[in-house]
Amino acid sequence: MSNLVYVLNGPNLNLLGQREPHLYGHETLADVEAQCRAVCDNQGLEQRFHQSNREYEIIDWIHEARDNAFGIIINAAAFTHTSVAILDALTAFEGPVLEVHVSNIHKREAFRHFSYVSQRAEGMIAGFGIQGYALAMQRMGKLYRDR
Ligand code: DQA
Repeated sequence: MSNLVYVLNGPNLNLLGQREPHLYGHETLADVEAQCRAVCDNQGLEQRFHQSNREYEIIDWIHEARDNAFGIIINAAAFTHTSVAILDALTAFEGPVLEVHVSNIHKREAFRHFSYVSQRAEGMIAGFGIQGYALAMQRMGKLYRDR
């Protein structure tokens, strides 16, 4: 069984650290990647870390994960609230799916309260800042050990 975890990031997350820091903080996506890698090493996991502003690319990575990954951690960003296509792709993936949001989407505008990704995810972390990714990776380690 593969120990690979895909960490997928949706639109505008390339601007993490610059964009609305009162909501998303000052740390960058490179910081997220480094923190996830540290937890991965600790948990005996490996990661493939990606970001795209294009819905189809995220879908293609989910398809790729079907063949070679144990689990997926996904912050689909704005696609969370709009994309049946990403939900369908995640539904075609058999391993665990963990959803992350840097901000607390339930404390924000009503249009952010619904998540297509949550219809598929085993669990979701929101509002823990970028620490949410590391916590999700820790959870992935537990799911991998218990598989
Ligand atoms: C986000 C929350 C989404 O509503 C928003 O569109 C994002 C980032 C978060 O990480 O808090 O781009 O997914």
